[in-house]
Amino acid sequence: MKSNIVSALRQNKEKEEKALCRDIRQYGRDVLDADAFHYAFDERHHLKSSVADHSLSVCIASVQISRLLKKLGIRIDEKDLVQAALLHDLGMLGRKDKFEGNLDAWKSHAKESVRIAKSIVPDLDPRTEEMILSHMWPVGKTSRPATREEIILSIADKYASLTDWAFLMTDSTYKEDLKKKILPGRYGKHADRHADKHAGRRDPK
Ligand SMILES: [Fe+2]
Ligand SMILES: [Fe+2]
Repeated sequence: MKSNIVSALRQNKEKEEKALCRDIRQYGRDVLDADAFHYAFDERHHLKSSVADHSLSVCIASVQISRLLKKLGIRIDEKDLVQAALLHDLGMLGRKDKFEGNLDAWKSHAKESVRIAKSIVPDLDPRTEEMILSHMWPVGKTSRPATREEIILSIADKYASLTDWAFLMTDSTYKEDLKKKILPGRYGKHADRHADKHAGRRDPK
């Protein structure tokens, strides 16, 4: 009896993870396929992560929060949320050439992320743009997250940033497995292949 319950719970968890990865792939296809996102595997972020790794972590955490809220009957626009999560830090690409130090990068990268986002998604939804612009609140001159999606992205970003920095956190294997499902065949060795192919080019226009 107990093993049946455990087996059912495990199957349900696997089903939910499969749906989460499938939906992130579908909603974020334009971004995941973009050169800028691939370059983001080469841009270091939060000491031990890359911009792309961090963005995927933020995206996974955002959708997990969204699915939790959906169970409580709270409606979330997941397509906009996924796009914003994958795009929110792309402004950090080529940061050494764009910003005057870390403080300037922290304060200014959200606007730069919107610029790159519009080059990837020309018809970027204004709600997605606002999510990107407000994700760093309260750092920099950004507006306070107001919509549900803006609040989720801002919280997921801070959570993912903390786990990026916290060397003793042990959830990395779980996250790595999800990322491999989101980017099958491209994740893992991708960064090395990309670094060889695009050496020296870090700021896609
Ligand atoms: Fe950011
Ligand atoms: Fe971030």
